[in-house]
This record gives sequence, C-alpha cells and structure tokens, in this order.
Amino acid sequence: MDWGLQNRLSRIIKPNDGKAVMLAVDHGYFLGPTESLEQPRKTIQPLLKYCDSLMLTRGVLRTSVDARFPVPVVLRVSGGSSIIGEDLSNEKITTSVKDAIRLNVSALAMSIFVGAKNEHNTLVSLGHLVNEAEEYGIPVLAVTAVGKELAKRDARYLSLSCRIAAEFGAHMVKTYYCDNFEKVVDSCPVPVIIAGGPKLEERAALELAYNAVNAGAAGVDMGRNIWQSKYPVPMIRAVRAIVHGNVNVKEAYDLFNRLCKESPSKNDKPKSETSQPKNQSKNKKQKKK
Ligand code: R5P
Repeated sequence: MDWGLQNRLSRIIKPNDGKAVMLAVDHGYFLGPTESLEQPRKTIQPLLKYCDSLMLTRGVLRTSVDARFPVPVVLRVSGGSSIIGEDLSNEKITTSVKDAIRLNVSALAMSIFVGAKNEHNTLVSLGHLVNEAEEYGIPVLAVTAVGKELAKRDARYLSLSCRIAAEFGAHMVKTYYCDNFEKVVDSCPVPVIIAGGPKLEERAALELAYNAVNAGAAGVDMGRNIWQSKYPVPMIRAVRAIVHGNVNVKEAYDLFNRLCKESPSKNDKPKSETSQPKNQSKNKKQKKK
C-alpha cells in the first residue's frame, strides 16, 4: 500500500488496535434537516474530541466545522436523490477529488446500491472513484445498503454487498449489523465498519456496537444513536469505551449512566441563559428602592 494511502487510513482506523470511532453526520445529503442535526455545528461541536474521524459532506464541513480543529475527515462525495424522491439509489459522484484534496480529507465515502435499480451506475462510480482517489493516495469507504435497501438487512445480502465493494477496490466498507455478522466480516477482505441505524434505546445501541466489534467489525460510523440520544457526549464516550477500551455492554452502559449525571443533557439550556446576570438582580433591587 502506498505510504500516503496507508497514512490517511491510519488516521481513521487507529493502528494501535485496528479500530475506528467515526461520527456520521452526513444524513442531510438525502434527509435534509434530520432530527437533532438541524444545526450541524451545534450537534457536532461537543462530540468532536471524542471521535477518531468525522463523516460528512463538504457543505457541512465548510459551514459547520472549525478548520483549525485537527479531526480527520471522511468526505461523502456521492448523492443526487432525496428521501422524498422516486429512487434513492440514483446517486452519482457529486464532489470532485480535487475539492476533497483542497479540504485536506483523509478518505472519501460513497454509497453503492446492490440489488437496486441503480446498482450498475453506483458500482461503476465506485470503480472510477477508487481509480482517481488512488492516484492521490486517498482511501475510499463504500457505504452499502441505505434507505429502502435496509429491508434486505441480512448476512447474505450484506456480505454480497460488502464483498462486491471490496472487489471494486474500496479500502473500507460500511454496512449494517445483522445476525451472523461474522459471515459478512469473514468474506470481506477489507475492514468492515458498522452504521448505527435508526435510534435505539442507549443500552441496545451499545449492545449493537459490542456485538459488531466482537464479530470482527473494525469499529463504528455511528450517527443517530449518538446525537439523537438525550446525552450525546456520554453516549459517544460509552461507544468509544466499547470500540477502543474493550469494555462489555454492562460496563459501557454503567459508564454512560455515570457520565449522564455529570454532563448536561442536550436539551439543557446553557447556564448563561438560565441564570440571571448579576447586575440584573442588582438593577431590580435598585428599582424597588
Ligand atoms: C447514510 O447514508 C449515512 O451514510 C449515515 O452516515 C449512516 O447511515 C450512519 O449513520 P447512522 O448511525 O445514523 O445510521
């Protein structure tokens, strides 16, 4: 593997344990202002220091992430359909490799839709993206099975999709957890990372992360189960403890509960908005006089 590619890859999958905690905030590219991601900067900012990398589009990167914060970026470069459109699988490459280099990204990400109407187009796009990205030493993450394709969430379908992505040259694959997940991992020659999927109760989401890592996943690229939690920071820290800290589900959930007591929930107003400014109470007294 070329030095540059290996170096970028190691910013995402940490070489000390071969694991990754990616924070997924790219949902707006087809879902619009997803719940709890209405104001991306507000959602992302408190979580930044707890993720190994951030997965998002160039629009949110440029508008909502401080360029001075050294978080590795996995840039989503595909899109073209929305959740209210006719066919979610109708995606093309929408962001150039040149712009990705300008943004100093560590990897590119695109979706493939195996078994869908646009299977052919998305797979050919993956091949072309790998060709171009490899010229500059940039790894590619293939995202398999999103949206309506989730109905096919079983090991047979997901291992088919992941294997095809790897055959086309993807350096990492992101997919969903399923029963017999070992089958998906074992038949895919590149690291497999799981998405979190729709919001679950926190313990169940931690269990999902634990089971996936135990079955051989190289980590998580989790979104909604972190930032749709009432306690996003405790949640990402508990997920991190599973991925990098080898803790079990009970230990991670205990950590989550402990951290919840120390952290404000995302619905709490900052102290400055709830407490009265000192001179305001003074003024009131003065008025009484
Ligand atoms: C889906 O297309 C996006 O790539 C998301 O990044 C992915 O689904 C992971 O987010 P979540 O954990 O919310 O499923």
